[in-house]
Formats: sequence, C-alpha cells, structure tokens
Amino acid sequence: MADLLSLALLKAPGEWGADIAAGSTQRLGTPMGFGGPSAGYMATREAFKRNMPGRIIGVSVDRLGNKALRMSLQMREQHIKREKATSNICTASALMASMVGFYCVYNGPEGLKRAATTAHEAAAAAARALEALDYKLAAKAFFDTIEVEAEAAVIQSLALERGINFFYPTENSVRIAFDEVTTPEEVETVVGIFAEARGRKAKGAKESAPRIPAQLLRTSAYLTEPVFNTYRCESDLMRYIKRLELRDISLANSMISLGSCTMKLNAAALMQPLSLAGFLDMHPFAPADQAEGYMQLIAELEKDLAAITGFAAASLQPNSGAAGEYTGLMVIRAYHQSRGQGYRNIVLIPASAHGTNPASAAMAGMKIVTVACDDKGNIDVEDLKAKAREHSSELAGTMITYPSTHGVFESRIREIVDAVHDAGGQVYMDGANMNAQVGLTNPGYIGADVCHLNLHKTFAMPHGGGGPGVGPICVAEHLRPFLPSHALAATGGDEGITAVASAPWGSASLLPITYGYIKMLGEEGLRRSTEMAIVNANYMSSALKHEYRTYYSGETGRVGHEMILDLTHFKHDYDIDCGDIAHRLMDYGFHAPTLSFPVHETLMVEPTESEPKAEMDRFIETLIRIKRECEAAAGQPDNVVRNAPHTAAELCGEWTHPYTREEAAFPLDWIRQAKFFPYVTKIDNGYGDRNLCCRNCEEKF
Ligand SMILES: Cc1ncc(COP(=O)(O)O)c(C=O)c1O
Repeated sequence: MADLLSLALLKAPGEWGADIAAGSTQRLGTPMGFGGPSAGYMATREAFKRNMPGRIIGVSVDRLGNKALRMSLQMREQHIKREKATSNICTASALMASMVGFYCVYNGPEGLKRAATTAHEAAAAAARALEALDYKLAAKAFFDTIEVEAEAAVIQSLALERGINFFYPTENSVRIAFDEVTTPEEVETVVGIFAEARGRKAKGAKESAPRIPAQLLRTSAYLTEPVFNTYRCESDLMRYIKRLELRDISLANSMISLGSCTMKLNAAALMQPLSLAGFLDMHPFAPADQAEGYMQLIAELEKDLAAITGFAAASLQPNSGAAGEYTGLMVIRAYHQSRGQGYRNIVLIPASAHGTNPASAAMAGMKIVTVACDDKGNIDVEDLKAKAREHSSELAGTMITYPSTHGVFESRIREIVDAVHDAGGQVYMDGANMNAQVGLTNPGYIGADVCHLNLHKTFAMPHGGGGPGVGPICVAEHLRPFLPSHALAATGGDEGITAVASAPWGSASLLPITYGYIKMLGEEGLRRSTEMAIVNANYMSSALKHEYRTYYSGETGRVGHEMILDLTHFKHDYDIDCGDIAHRLMDYGFHAPTLSFPVHETLMVEPTESEPKAEMDRFIETLIRIKRECEAAAGQPDNVVRNAPHTAAELCGEWTHPYTREEAAFPLDWIRQAKFFPYVTKIDNGYGDRNLCCRNCEEKF
C-alpha cells in the first residue's frame, strides 16, 4: 500500500521490486467528504496488465489513423465475463480519478514534490520539538505521520480546546498527520498542546533534518508526459478542462437514453450541497458529536430508503450497485451461517441478468447456477423452480432484477420469490430498475429479502462518466443484524459482516443529493416520477413500433421504464450493426443507448421521467432517419452510417464519399442549432487490444 503523495519523495514501489501497488488517491486534491467519494488506485508490473480489474484507458487509432483514447478490451466491462470475471466493477470513481488527474496536471512533478516536502517538513519539525519535550515517538523515520507516546485523554481535551482532532489508537498513543497546507503556526499549536500536557514550555518548532533515510529517497523522474508539464496557469487549466469537456456528449447536450443506467436530471438544487464546506471538509472519523448533521442526514436517508423499498433497514456503505450486490450476498451468507447453514452457497441467476450479478456472486465465493429465460425474455419459471428444488440443500438464494433487464414487469415474480423461499434460499433483488418501482411497488412488497439501490441512477446522483456512485442495500428485518459494520465507527448490525468500504458510510458527501431528491419530491412526487418514466418509455416504444420492433413486452403489450429495440436483422438487411448506429447517433448529437445488452444487436432505450416530449421526439425522428439511411446504404459499403461519426477535420478535407458533407453532418435541420463534432471517428478496437498502451505512447503513434 502506498500513499501517492509520499512517492514524490520516496523510492517508487516498482523500483524496489514490488509487483503491485495500491492505495487511495484521496490526498491528491479530493476533499475528505466524511469518507468519500475518492478514487482508489492499483498499479502492477507489465506482466499483470491484462489481469487488471476495472477499466483502463488505452490508446488506439481511428478510421483515419488519428490517435484515439478508448477503454481497452481486456478491462472493459470485466463483469461481462460473468462468473469468470475477476472483478465486479461497473461503476467506479471515474470522476474522482479525473479530478486527481487534473490535480497532477496543474501541480506537475514539482508541485507534488513541494506538497510532499511541506508535509514532511511539518512532521519533522513537530517530531523534533516533541522529542525536545522528551516525548517518545513510535518511529524515527516517517513521511508525514508521527505517533507519540502520551496520555490520549489529556492530549485530546487540550486539542479539542484548540479545535484540533488527532487520532488516538490507544489510551497511550496519539497519531498526528501533517499535509501540504499545514502552516508553521499549526505545528507550533500542536507542539504547544503536548508542552502544556507536561506543564512545560515549548521551545518552538524549528526546521528539522529530513527523517527519510537516504536509501529510501526517490531519484527517478515521474509525471514526465507533456500534459503534466504544460498547465501552470489557472486560465490555461480551465481552458484545457473545457476543451476536454467539449469532446463529450453529456446530459447538458441531449438526452442520454442508456437503458438500465437511468441518466436522469441531476437538479441544480440537489447538486448545490456538494460545494458546502460542512459536507466536504468533514473527516470520516471525526468524533460523533462533531458530525451531528451528517448523522441526522444518514439516519433519515436510511429510514426513507427502507420505506421506499419496503424493508426494515439500510446500509449506505457500498460504493456502487455491484458493491451493493456483493454486500447483500455477504449478508445472506452471514444469515445462513447464523442458522448453522453456512454450506448454502448456490445462487440462481437468470441468463438475462446484468453481468455484475454473477460477477458479484463469484466475488462472494458462491456457485452460480444459470436459469433460462423464455423467448419473451421472462425468467423461465419452471426452470427456476426445478433448479431451486434440485439445489434446495445448498441454495443460498437468487438474484433477480425487476422489472427485468428486458424491461418487462414479470407477472410471475411472486411465484419466483416463493419457489426460492420454499427451497430455503433468500431473494436478492437487483434495484438498478427501481426507477420503475418507486411509489408503485417495492421489493419488500414483492417478497424479496434484500435489494441494492443505485443512488447514481434512480436517486438523481450524476454518474460522473462512470462513477462515483452509492449502492446502499436495504434488508428485511431478519437480515438487519448482518448489515456491514466498521472497525472504527458504530454502524451496521449487531452481528454485522466486516466493512465493505473503508469509510463507515461510504461516499457520504454524495448523500445530500439523494436526501434532497426524496425530501423535495415527497411521496407524491416520487410516485409521479415513476409513472412518468413508464409513460415516457411506452410513448417512445409506440412511436417507434413501425420502424423498430420492441423486443420484449409484458402480457399487456407494454414495457416498463425502458425498451429494447430490435436491430438483429440490420446486419442481414443492410450490412450495418448496432455499433454503427451508435456511432451515427453522434452525428445527430446523441449519446448511444445501451448497446447489445442484454440481447445482442439491440439498443436499450430508457428516456426517464426527466425528458420532455420534444426531446423524445427529436430522438425518435433521429432513429427513424437513421433507419432510412440504413435502407439507402444497403449494398453500398462506403455509406454514411458505417463511416460515422464524421469529424470536422474530415468534412473540411478531401471528400470521396458517395454522400454529401451536408448529409454527413446535418442530416436534420435542427442539428444546426447545436452541432456536436466528435474529435475522432470510429476507433480500431482490435488495434488497441493488440497494442495495449496507456502511458508514454507517443512513439508508437
Ligand atoms: C441491472 C444492473 N444491475 C447492477 C448494475 C451495477 O451497478 P453499478 O454500476 O453501480 O455497479 C447495473 C449497472 O449498470 C445494472 O444495470
């Protein structure tokens, strides 16, 4: 484990033979936020790079030979490997990682070294002064943290008088961390506390010799790429960030209809608390009486989420939906163990399930038995019943999504729940689709035992380009005792499983968003949101039905809050696949819907309640126009859909295509009002996979 700031001074782990380094990036510019969100990091030797979990951005080339960044295949959507996945990571902390990136871009190697040196010098000065007061330190060599032998209670009361919190690992030790914003006056105050505890007068904290042994000092260069050595002026940095932002299609441009991802409005009123120091600057292990506001917010939110899901209790600890899945399964395991049935470790998971379900089950050490789906996309209830019976002696439970990942309210859901319970299993409900349930039904009512919620979907937190997220779990009364605990804070059940995140309440500083969403909408507003989400999806499904068949619908002929559009015949009819359509959508200024999930060669569209009819109509018109383009393109390999997206540079260059520049860039009139030009065109994924390169790639391209 390595503190990244320390590595500006200390020899890098890779240089002294470590195979893997991991840790938190929090101190590189991310606020504490009562525990999160902040990004972790993991780095390995070259030999392990293809085994890395999560997502790695690599370099490739586009159709025109331009250098292009992309998610590299091995790491992309690890959970698509289902039970063979080596991680269940879907939502991570991409936004926080970007923030850390910008911190490094702005500060560069010299800035990081300056920050690390300031922290170290403050610690060294305090250490020297404390030694002069005859205090014993736990270690002579250190980076920024010292541990002092002293009576904790005495020091604590003096420190509190001065508004300072230390960490007190035992009754006789005090641990103090310094950082890049520690001032000499603060060091003096710290020393003064210890002097007073001994009834002595501090001599004043003077500069001290470094406390890092020479052989551990770093001599190698780091952050050598141009981007870390270019931006030293805030205006320049601001423009750099804006330039990158302009390469992205976000909700600020147009609707993002990513089915199952619920990209809805992140209202400004909900986002405001994110900038309040009271939320941002709170340390996760601050004494409880200093965090009463947070504790009240957490208690109320847990209660509201439990009420919404029809359950008894909630834990806000998991940092994503998939982390919630893992937590829920561990809770189920603890429940079985508490009844002397720890041998129950088989989970039934429908073939249609999101890949994180089996991946999480594998992480939780469970065995996965796949349940078939019928040709309408519903769980094959007879198959499920048979498998539940067959494995009843070892059945831990099932994981189901409702409405299903096929976008349908399965009418036999209660039968499924009963069959699993009858076989001694617990029912885990994947709450990713709660946007179709809130206020109308709930997992508790349906009979499930535990569910996770994606607060970064249903409950209005932004996705941040892949995270951060919050994936609380809600549980029925009998599972409450097993909710995750924490070594340093009172949370979770009496027999709680070990913590699933390093912070007791996960990414706490995001919670005001969901808190505000629930409180501002209230019972009535939440139900209305769900109703509108379902109405909007059915409006789009109906409006598109003559051009794009909705793959699955329920017994009523309706969908839930999303629909799967069937493009399976496009390859045969037009030699165009749904990936081409996704790219062509960029030329129209739209982000693609969810691609080929859970059915290959389909688009899963979820408009959510946030979209006005005019925006849905623009999207409908776009999809219909693209279908016309596909029809016209049949038998013509050089066509406007296959070549999409079209960059501004290509449009200004030599033009050899059989269609016009106009048709490429402005196929519909309203596109002129706010044209989005992608920076690169279609990327060669195979090239990037074969030449995985994430750093110092200049010479290869
Ligand atoms: C049905 C379903 N389950 C679980 C997840 C995992 O949630 P997260 O991305 O927050 O880990 C997703 C995310 O896309 C999902 O759609």
